[in-house]
Amino acid sequence: MKLLVTGGAGFIGSNFIYYEMEKHPEDALVCLDKLTYAGNLATLEPAMEDPKFRFVQGDIADGQFVEALFREEKPDIVVNFAAESHVDRSIEDPGIFLRTNVMGVQILMDACRAHGVSRFHQVSTDEVYGDLPLDQPDLFFTEETPVRASSPYSASKAAADLLVQAYHRTYGFPATITRCSNNYGPYHFPEKLIPLMITRALADQSLPVYGKGENVRDWLYVRDHCSAIDLVIRNGRPGELYNVGGHNERTNLQVVKTVLRELGKGEERITFVADRPGHDRRYAIDPAKIERELGWIPETPFEEGIRETVQWYLAHETWWKTILSGEYRNYFKRMYEDKGRGSL
Ligand code: NAD
Ligand code: TYD
Repeated sequence: MKLLVTGGAGFIGSNFIYYEMEKHPEDALVCLDKLTYAGNLATLEPAMEDPKFRFVQGDIADGQFVEALFREEKPDIVVNFAAESHVDRSIEDPGIFLRTNVMGVQILMDACRAHGVSRFHQVSTDEVYGDLPLDQPDLFFTEETPVRASSPYSASKAAADLLVQAYHRTYGFPATITRCSNNYGPYHFPEKLIPLMITRALADQSLPVYGKGENVRDWLYVRDHCSAIDLVIRNGRPGELYNVGGHNERTNLQVVKTVLRELGKGEERITFVADRPGHDRRYAIDPAKIERELGWIPETPFEEGIRETVQWYLAHETWWKTILSGEYRNYFKRMYEDKGRGSL
């Protein structure tokens, strides 16, 4: 079987590629990634050693390019991680979020239909449900919760989900969707809360906490998300939506303090800064459906996952320092174009 993984040079997509290589070494993998600021080819360096893996640089919103790639590769399954993924950036510049997160999905789905792909999987987010109040801890997002996005990012992901569901209803298109809570773990781009705090704390810089740090997120170790997607693409029912969550709710302040404890650092650099506009208060997933139907459970307790994540960042200083210096953006040019390897 051949899987096309889009957005595989990013955080979750790369973890998924390594998960699949370990779990299903018989499968071939093609990664399509535009290598935006969030894509880092160095992350995929170990994967390049595998003859069953191929990396292709390209844009999921470029119809001609996508069509040619599908004609050449004939994937059996497409898993779409490619997206603009940072809420704060979507507040600054919503346009690219619509192009990639909505138009890109339409283009991918049309290519899947034209080439008889047996499963298209859309990696979505719990942010499409909007938020929950802080004072009702017994409320959770279920698959029946109405879509009510707050940010341009979550609105673009919600739009894509509606389109995927419409393709299933209209064309019988074999699609599944997972809506996942906040992920953390290796290869997380250091603009997001946990890697930002780890890398800034290591540099003894200030640690910017939005508002009072009371907003709540449900944290899921990235490997647990990968195992959920793997189950859904192989055993999930076409046309179905599955919520994926970690049963690990924490306030942002609790998260930052846990990271500092793990690093052996004090709390004196925590700085409360202006809040994010439209800041969602609480996300909390009820993952009962995927547990019941597919036997999935989140295996990694938060404290264990944070310990592993902090250890990973300590052991991979070059990876994140190269990103922070901007040097990683020259990697493709250095490793491929300058060596005449073309677009791989
Ligand atoms: P990321 O920003 O780390 O990676 C996104 C990847 O997509 C990058 O490699 C980037 O180069 C690539 N990309 C962007 N635009 C592209 C385009 N037009 N064509 C091809 N490639 C393109 O994101 P992530 O955190 O790994 O998230 C992956 C997916 O999971 C996203 O769809 C996101 O909405 C969803 N998600 C993320 C989280 C989370 O906590 N990070 C939670 C739930 C869902
Ligand atoms: P983030 O990692 O951007 O994920 P999302 O917005 O998709 O949940 O942020 C997680 C939480 O951390 C969110 O409530 C915003 C907060 N946050 C901070 O307090 N400071 C920061 O510097 C960042 C990036 C996020």
